[in-house]
Amino acid sequence: MSFIVAIRNFILKIMYRAMRPLIFLMDPEQAHYSLKKVGVVMGSNALFRGLTGLLFDYNHSSLETKVNGIKYRNPVGLSAGFDKDGELTKIYPSLGFGLAELGSFTGEVCPGNPGKRLFRMVKSKSIVVWYGLNNFGAEKISKRLAGVDFGRLVVGINAAKSNVTPEFELQESIRDYLKTLTLFKDIGDYFTVNISCPNTQDGEPFVDKDNLEALLAAINDSIRPITNKPIYIKLAADLNIDEINIIIDGCVKFNMDGVVLTNLAKPDVNQEHIAAEYPSNLGLLPKGKGAMSGLPLQRISTDVVRHVYRRTRGSLTIIGVGGIFSAKDAYEKITSGANLLHMITTLIFDGPQNISEINRGLVKLLQEDGFSSIEEAVGSRNPLPILEIAAASDKAEAAA
Ligand SMILES: Cc1cc2nc3c(=O)[nH]c(=O)nc-3n(C[C@H](O)[C@H](O)[C@H](O)COP(=O)(O)O)c2cc1C
Repeated sequence: MSFIVAIRNFILKIMYRAMRPLIFLMDPEQAHYSLKKVGVVMGSNALFRGLTGLLFDYNHSSLETKVNGIKYRNPVGLSAGFDKDGELTKIYPSLGFGLAELGSFTGEVCPGNPGKRLFRMVKSKSIVVWYGLNNFGAEKISKRLAGVDFGRLVVGINAAKSNVTPEFELQESIRDYLKTLTLFKDIGDYFTVNISCPNTQDGEPFVDKDNLEALLAAINDSIRPITNKPIYIKLAADLNIDEINIIIDGCVKFNMDGVVLTNLAKPDVNQEHIAAEYPSNLGLLPKGKGAMSGLPLQRISTDVVRHVYRRTRGSLTIIGVGGIFSAKDAYEKITSGANLLHMITTLIFDGPQNISEINRGLVKLLQEDGFSSIEEAVGSRNPLPILEIAAASDKAEAAA
């Protein structure tokens, strides 16, 4: 079976390689909308879904995993930002995804940033995003998704703060998050609270300890009593170690269930892309705007996964995201401490067959290491320091 899937995926890969130059001739945002339209059509009836499944799906029992009480048929997920209005849920299972995170959804309707706002950096294997949280808003989207049966797909709802004003006001921002979370309380399986959008007018104010704790306390007061969904916090890629620790310790203190690591990388602090390709350096985007997905994020997000897994001793669920293009990349995130995975950029650079190729490769890698499940592999190449040594190094860190 795996052999047939390998041949199928190889043929699809060659076909996608042949089509890619044509897709890349299109404006990136236009290409995004066109691909989404194809996805809506393919998900619209059982025949198309069945055909898509024959071409792209893959199942294996060793990929099944349970995280915070939720069963996933595989750990490979679509990351937030591809399906900003939650329109494609019918097709994801046939494409081979175990989970899909929808959004980011915001309390208010958001048109997003003006101008050209999506760019490809082909040599850097990256997408530069300057969308600014464009979506139809939580009210409209939650009405459309209410009562929808997502079948075998696990659905995450990603809530962000509306990007409508340059002024930050703490209580108003918290209300905005709570509005979205409340409207989606009965939709989907888990929540992600996105405190790390790099493209908003008022920056990332929830990196601040007091603001973060006020938000997490409000979530516990208002959202925990109305839903028992796990709640994860999505972190930025460019935080320094102290900022990461503040957020992670806040998540533990306020009993959050996990973290999504990480969001996009900003160009000014990232050395892992080809600067000449960055749209600001080509006069296509104002300086300091936009942030990168894909390869420039790969090592950094894995480093954050490794750090958070060690600091929390595996007590928080980790969704690893950033630059996953192959089963080896996916496995590296898992063995560093990630329980689940998200991805977008590989869909664009490698094609949708890569989802099942990553899953197929994961099965092989698990077997090679003698593991019978994803759970066994989580953190297996990131051994936890014994507690006394961890305490001593924390002390030394604090003294320095
Ligand atoms: C086009 C695009 C839009 C995105 N929009 C969002 C978003 O609305 N909310 C969010 O949390 N992350 C967003 N992201 C970040 C992704 O969810 C993910 O963290 C990042 O792309 C790294 O994964 P990748 O390297 O596999 O693409 C977006 C990414 C892309 C490429």
